[in-house]
Parts: sequence; structure tokens; C-alpha cells
Amino acid sequence: MLNVVVLVSGGGTNLQAIIDAVESGAVTNTKVTGVISNNKNAYALERAKNHGIQGICISPKEYASREEFNVKFLETVDALKPDLIVLAGFLVVIPPAMIEKYRNRIINIHPSLIPSFCGTGFYGLKVHEAELERGVKVVGATVHFVDEGTDTGPIILQKAVEVQQGDTPEVLQRRVMEQAEWKILPHAIDLIANNKVKVEDGKVRILE
Ligand code: GRF
Repeated sequence: MLNVVVLVSGGGTNLQAIIDAVESGAVTNTKVTGVISNNKNAYALERAKNHGIQGICISPKEYASREEFNVKFLETVDALKPDLIVLAGFLVVIPPAMIEKYRNRIINIHPSLIPSFCGTGFYGLKVHEAELERGVKVVGATVHFVDEGTDTGPIILQKAVEVQQGDTPEVLQRRVMEQAEWKILPHAIDLIANNKVKVEDGKVRILE
């Protein structure tokens, strides 16, 4: 049974997609044992509570330094004994010590087809504003392992979504969530939970 801990900062629609997929049996061999947020008002914590999943709030703002927060943050994660850590809209930088300790056991959902529209400053609506500004016709989402860079780890799954005439950033974001994010993130977790994901020479091989 894969013990999954989900890190969130906002509305939690990706968390909800994971919870629903586990409960429906679409994702097997998996249990979400905790949700951690840096934002005590994150609706994602309410979603966790509604499904009997423990929610923990820890924020850098509560600590005198980022170093102090990083130590407490890693202790908080370790205490849940995760096999997999899922970043689902988590806006706090992951401490290097956590990335090292959980090498290829932290995954992130990014709302673009990496390597396009990713890296520092590309998050949330900003991604879709940039896509519309550039005039791309195809966008999408990516699930990747987290390494020391920003959106640079080995890519696990991607799914393309068409841009439509007249799209606003908000409409495009919603379509990417519905048609891509909420599908590939649970799918990636199910693949990992069933030992179908291998990282070789920095690239992911899926054993279907
Ligand atoms: C999503 O757009 C996701 O791609 C990005 O942050 C947002 C999180 O949304 N990483 P939610 O909190 O899952 O609704």
C-alpha cells in the first residue's frame, strides 16, 4: 500500500481528484494519509477533512528563519512516513534536504507541457496568461519528479489540451485542469503505487 502525503496551498482540486480516484478504485494500492498546507485557509484542508484525512498546517511565516522552517517542515513530513509526496499546487520551495531524502519520491503537477512555460515565475494563471500571449495552439499539463531545479525533474506523464478561440486565462486554466491535471496526476500515482515507473539515466520508463 503506497502511503501518499499531499502538499497543498490553495483550492485543492487536484487533491480532490486524487481522493476521488482512490475512493472510486481508479487508483489502486494507495492511501492518502495526510495533507500538509502552508495556508491555514486553503480549501484543500477542508476537502481533506471532509474525507477523514488529517490536515496539517505549517508555514514559513511561523518561524524566525527559512532554515528553521525547513527543519520543522521535514520533521512534519517524516512523521507521516510517506512513500510518495505529491505537490498539488504547493507554493513553498521544497528544502534541498527533503529532495535528497525523498529522491524520486516527490512528484509535482505543472499546468503546462514542460519544457514550455515553466520555471521561476510560471505558476497558476501566469502560465496560461503567457500561453495566450504567445499564441500557442496546444497546451497541457505535466507530472514530473521533483529535483533541485524548478520544474526540471524527470517527466512521468503529460497530456495535451487544445486552446480555443476566445479563451481567457481562467477558461484555459479550467480546461487544462479538467482535461489534463485531474487525469494524469491520479494516473501517475496509480503507476507508482503499482511499481510501473522506473527512472533510468534521468528519464522515466513506464512499464505498462
Ligand atoms: C493547478 O493549476 C496546478 O497545476 C498548479 O497549481 C494549481 C493548483 O490548483 N500546480 P488546486 O489547488 O489543485 O485546485
